[in-house]
Amino acid sequence: MWMRLLLGVVCLTTVAMAASGGDEAALLAFKAGLSNGGSALASWNGSTGFCSWEGVACTRGRNPPRVVVLSLPKMGLAGTLSAAIGNLTFLQAIELTFNWLHGDVPASLGRLRRLRYMSLGYNSLSGEIPANLTSCVALEQLFLDSNKLSGRVPAELGNALSRLWLLRLKNNSFTGPVPESLANASLLSYLSLANNQFDGAIPPGLAGLAGLWHLDLSVNKLRGALPLSLYNLSSLRIFHVEGNRLHGTIPADIGSKFPAMKDLSFANNRFTGGVPPSISNLTNLTSLQLSINGFTGLVPHDLGRLYRLQYLYMPYNMLQADDTKGWEFITSLANCSQLVQLSLSDNAFAGQLPSSLVNLSSTLQYLYQGDCGISGQWRSQDQNLPMANVLLLI
Ligand SMILES: *[C@@H]1O[C@H](CO)[C@@H](O)[C@H](O)[C@H]1NC(C)=O
Ligand SMILES: *[C@@H]1O[C@H](CO)[C@@H](O)[C@H](O)[C@H]1NC(C)=O
Ligand SMILES: *[C@@H]1O[C@H](CO)[C@@H](O)[C@H](O)[C@H]1NC(C)=O
Ligand SMILES: *[C@@H]1O[C@H](CO)[C@@H](O)[C@H](O)[C@H]1NC(C)=O
Ligand SMILES: *[C@@H]1O[C@H](CO)[C@@H](O)[C@H](O)[C@H]1NC(C)=O
Ligand SMILES: *[C@@H]1O[C@H](CO)[C@@H](O)[C@H](O)[C@H]1NC(C)=O
Ligand SMILES: *[C@@H]1O[C@H](CO)[C@@H](O)[C@H](O)[C@H]1NC(C)=O
Ligand SMILES: *[C@@H]1O[C@H](CO)[C@@H](O)[C@H](O)[C@H]1NC(C)=O
Ligand SMILES: *[C@@H]1O[C@H](CO)[C@@H](O)[C@H](O)[C@H]1NC(C)=O
Ligand SMILES: *[C@@H]1O[C@H](CO)[C@@H](O)[C@H](O)[C@H]1NC(C)=O
Repeated sequence: MWMRLLLGVVCLTTVAMAASGGDEAALLAFKAGLSNGGSALASWNGSTGFCSWEGVACTRGRNPPRVVVLSLPKMGLAGTLSAAIGNLTFLQAIELTFNWLHGDVPASLGRLRRLRYMSLGYNSLSGEIPANLTSCVALEQLFLDSNKLSGRVPAELGNALSRLWLLRLKNNSFTGPVPESLANASLLSYLSLANNQFDGAIPPGLAGLAGLWHLDLSVNKLRGALPLSLYNLSSLRIFHVEGNRLHGTIPADIGSKFPAMKDLSFANNRFTGGVPPSISNLTNLTSLQLSINGFTGLVPHDLGRLYRLQYLYMPYNMLQADDTKGWEFITSLANCSQLVQLSLSDNAFAGQLPSSLVNLSSTLQYLYQGDCGISGQWRSQDQNLPMANVLLLI
């Protein structure tokens, strides 16, 4: 996104500039905040104007020119993020992913009313998200993932940032509730809050985000029933809630709710009830994870209609199969020619496995064994699984 912005808005040719001490001083303060800025930013010296410094792009045709892009990903930058960055009030994009920045996210960023893109992902920033960030009203994409941020996310974030379509906060230590105001960020299409310590219930209002296609709430402390309204998010392609304390049942008509679903994970929660037969209608699924829940009943007999499936995990439930009819799904899965991993261990399966097991995908690498934590049995292209082992594995 910001690349387009960079090419569209910004003139990269060197324009002689003078009397723009404001932005130059702010950039030098940014450099001074870094413990290794001298080596990484050697080009930031007096021999050229700041608009031609590495990672800097400026307005075109403005005198003095103003900085619109600061892009220094993977530069090995260490140190803190200077509050002077808030003086670069023409900034539209900040890209500092994959560096070694630590310390706070400066509240002065709230001064950047033109900022559309900010990525501070994969650093070591700590402290809370400053409430002032809600003043960055032009923000469309915000990446703060994989830092050491903590505390509550500002409650008003979703109300203030009405243009936000991407929010990635995963892999931090955020606590408190998922802000209900996110339901008001009506353009939101990518929301990842995974791997934090968010607690409380999932706000049912998220179901109003018609364009949401990526929703990852996995590995938090969310509890309560998964709101049924979320099954109205018909644009979802990736939906992960694994690793929480959620309960509920999968609605019988799930097969008509998520036409675009590719990657669905309910694993490691407290879901109960059956696996609805209609799930076999989600034919874009490549990964289905139902592990470690309280699912009961038969596995849908025509699961093999999910012909794009690569990963199917259902261990640690109370699923049943006693007779030929119950095992039909194994025969059906022979249709999934791209299946790579299949795990069925620790269920209430019994009886005779169907011989059609030998027809499972030749790309299948592992059948997981749950009991003793040993995974699998390698199966090469031309070597069938020995039946005796398979019986042990399931
Ligand atoms: C940033 O702006 C403030 C107020 O406009 C000013 O006092 C300060 O000196 C500026 N900092 C830098 C490093 O330019
Ligand atoms: C100053 O930056 C230029 C590139 O803009 C670089 O060629 C030169 O080596 C730098 N000078 C120093 C002293 O680092
Ligand atoms: C944060 O916002 C408050 C209220 O809008 C303002 O008074 C304060 O100066 C801002 N802080 C910084 C560091 O910009
Ligand atoms: C989580 O964030 C930490 C700190 O930035 C990083 O070292 C780690 O690689 C991240 N983990 C994942 C799975 O992205
Ligand atoms: C969402 O926006 C409406 C209208 O501006 C407002 O009344 C409501 O309080 C907001 N919801 C939340 C949870 O902030
Ligand atoms: C889903 O949407 C339909 C129509 O858009 C609405 O009637 C229904 O109440 C919604 N279901 C839930 C559970 O929110
Ligand atoms: C299913 O996936 C295919 C291939 O990725 C894609 O072209 C198609 O649009 C998807 N179907 C839906 C309903 O999203
Ligand atoms: C799957 O979809 C087809 C066509 O939309 C429908 O006729 C059928 O009843 C669905 N199957 C299940 C089990 O819901
Ligand atoms: C088998 O897979 C094909 C695509 O490879 C798909 O069109 C078909 O519906 C599947 N048939 C059954 C019975 O699952
Ligand atoms: C394996 O698949 C082949 C081809 O579809 C079929 O003829 C054969 O009966 C199947 N074997 C078993 C044991 O189901």
